[in-house]
Amino acid sequence: MKFTLTTPIYYINDKPHIGHAYTTIVADIIARYHRLKGEDVFFLTGTDENSQKNIEAAEKLGKGDRIQEYLDEQSAVWRSTWEKLGITNTDFIRTTESRHIAGVEKFFNAVYERGDIYKGTYRGYYCAGCEAFVNESDLVDGLCPLHKKKPDTIEEENYFFSASKYRDALLEHIEKHPEFVQPQSRRNEIINYIQNHFTDISISRQSLKWGIPLPIDKTHVVYVWFDALINYLTGIGYGTNDEMFEKYWPAELHLVGKDIIKFHCALWPAMLMSAGLPLPKQVFAHGFFTIDGDKISKSLGNSIDPVEIANQYGRDPLRYFLVREIPFGSDGDFSFTRLKERYTSDLAKGLGNFVSRVVALAAKDRGEQIDEHNPDEDEVKKIASATWDTWETSLQNYEFGNALDAIWHLISWGDTYIEKTKPWALAKENRARYRHVIDLLLELVRHTSLLIQPFLPETTTKITEQLVVIPYVEALSSKKKKEWHNDAVVSVKRGTALFPPLDV
Ligand code: MSP
Repeated sequence: MKFTLTTPIYYINDKPHIGHAYTTIVADIIARYHRLKGEDVFFLTGTDENSQKNIEAAEKLGKGDRIQEYLDEQSAVWRSTWEKLGITNTDFIRTTESRHIAGVEKFFNAVYERGDIYKGTYRGYYCAGCEAFVNESDLVDGLCPLHKKKPDTIEEENYFFSASKYRDALLEHIEKHPEFVQPQSRRNEIINYIQNHFTDISISRQSLKWGIPLPIDKTHVVYVWFDALINYLTGIGYGTNDEMFEKYWPAELHLVGKDIIKFHCALWPAMLMSAGLPLPKQVFAHGFFTIDGDKISKSLGNSIDPVEIANQYGRDPLRYFLVREIPFGSDGDFSFTRLKERYTSDLAKGLGNFVSRVVALAAKDRGEQIDEHNPDEDEVKKIASATWDTWETSLQNYEFGNALDAIWHLISWGDTYIEKTKPWALAKENRARYRHVIDLLLELVRHTSLLIQPFLPETTTKITEQLVVIPYVEALSSKKKKEWHNDAVVSVKRGTALFPPLDV
């Protein structure tokens, strides 16, 4: 089985902030989950470079005559940010690469040959912040509600895409495939948008000096959104590697922020229908978050660098916090106070303490293995297997909080079990019982290390380094590894604390 997922490709007129990292980190969690299930994952991210915003930023820095150089530098910053955060994307697509340009030309020609492109004049507003043609009705007090700026008024000869031709087909698709637009609240928003506001759209710009020239008229460049959406195809080989493209398209998931859902759930599928290509299976829109109550913005100077947070708190705690604290799909707040609280209570005192207690208890001589059945095993087996079930359905539905709740419930069962059985006393008084209890706890730690893997991959590695697992279990398929194997952990090697006290 294959699983293809994408993040939006980011504008690179600035450094990545925590909001961008959110989308990418969540995509990484999903990618790791599918890999863990043994699927062939293609995880694509990249940079959206033919944007007016990027060009203006280059000009501001006096690099107006060296735009490609500016884009190369900026794109490298984004790429290295994801590397520093441990993101496991399969590829990184840039819209100034020749493979992308080749694919955009091919796609444009397909739409053109379908008879879906015509010449006209665009008279109206353009919001450079949104990189979108906007209607009077989109404005609030004459301003773009997102960017709080007056949009440009433009009048230029443009080529248009007959998007409205696909209105009924789009509505029918959304009707037939409730999973296509998620979460549900977004679905209603999109249906309303397609029914009432989805019209033909200008897909070329005449007045811009940067972008991909239109194959049929080189005095125009392709409108940046029409160009950018095609990255989802060119990043997996459309136009350059048919075999790979056939293998990985359609994508199972486009992960996007709620701000760009219309492009992904209306324009994009209409473009694909016109080009005769299958539609992605799902677009999932997550919410936006604020920082300590404020909108993330340059002027407030609060656009924190995710790499800095990862350096201070660790990459895993950052990942954990983002999906633990903010219900996926809703808006939320990023608070440093909450981040510290979660670090201490859930990670250091919860997970970290449990693992170090068990490893310390097991470091003593455990004695001979016992054939007799441990009476506690039936209960723990049931709980572990229920945890895996919840984990599976929650991750499948992107309900990360539920998956984490279940894992932490298992950890707290383990803590209570330690309190109840008092293995330190058993070590002296009842060697056989001691062996049973420790075997069970170690197996619980092994399960925990697997369950947390999509969320806390570095912690999984650190735990794994402390457990010596019998080669027979190590060699099992990922599915079989999730079963209960009471004698899986042969011995332990004590390591350093998983979540040391913070000094921030
Ligand atoms: N270039 C377009 C996307 C083209 S995809 C074919 C774009 N880029 S962007 O740089 O503005 O990044 C957009 C994405 O970053 C959002 O859709 C969202 O996923 C993420 N976020 C940006 N700010 C965010 C928050 N404050 N909170 C959560 N996510 C945020 O739009």
